[in-house]
Amino acid sequence: MSDKNRLMDLYRRSVLQHSREPKNFGRLESASLQAEGHNPLCGDKITVYLTLAGENIEEITFEGIGCAISLASASMMTETIKGKTILTAESTLSDVVDAFTHPEKPWDSDQHGELAALSGVRQYPSRIKCATLPWKTLSAAIAGNHQTISTE
Ligand code: FES
Repeated sequence: MSDKNRLMDLYRRSVLQHSREPKNFGRLESASLQAEGHNPLCGDKITVYLTLAGENIEEITFEGIGCAISLASASMMTETIKGKTILTAESTLSDVVDAFTHPEKPWDSDQHGELAALSGVRQYPSRIKCATLPWKTLSAAIAGNHQTISTE
């Protein structure tokens, strides 16, 4: 199997697994920060919730209605970001959004772990906004932005 086929196989399996059983799904009543993101192209919306302990993101959850890619991306995002400092979370989310939206950039699978599987979405340009929706919503939550953010 070529590297590209292996990546696409991993992509399909990860999206399927995380969308069927999303991690950290649900409302976080104790959230100190939250934001809502909207993809106007399909109408899907998700909300990201955070609780902070000092500079650390102690808890992160999400809820909403989305396609398999947006749910899988949100699920993997919460697993990646939980326990990180705000600074590290901001740097990771900027790297990930950059990697999704600039297909020519190499994806560092050592650095991004399972998230590397999501880079397979770059083969489907019309679905990239599905993958970035949770990350842009997380960015708004960290910034304390109470307006609904849009992928457009
Ligand atoms: Fe709506 Fe993917 S189709 S977020």
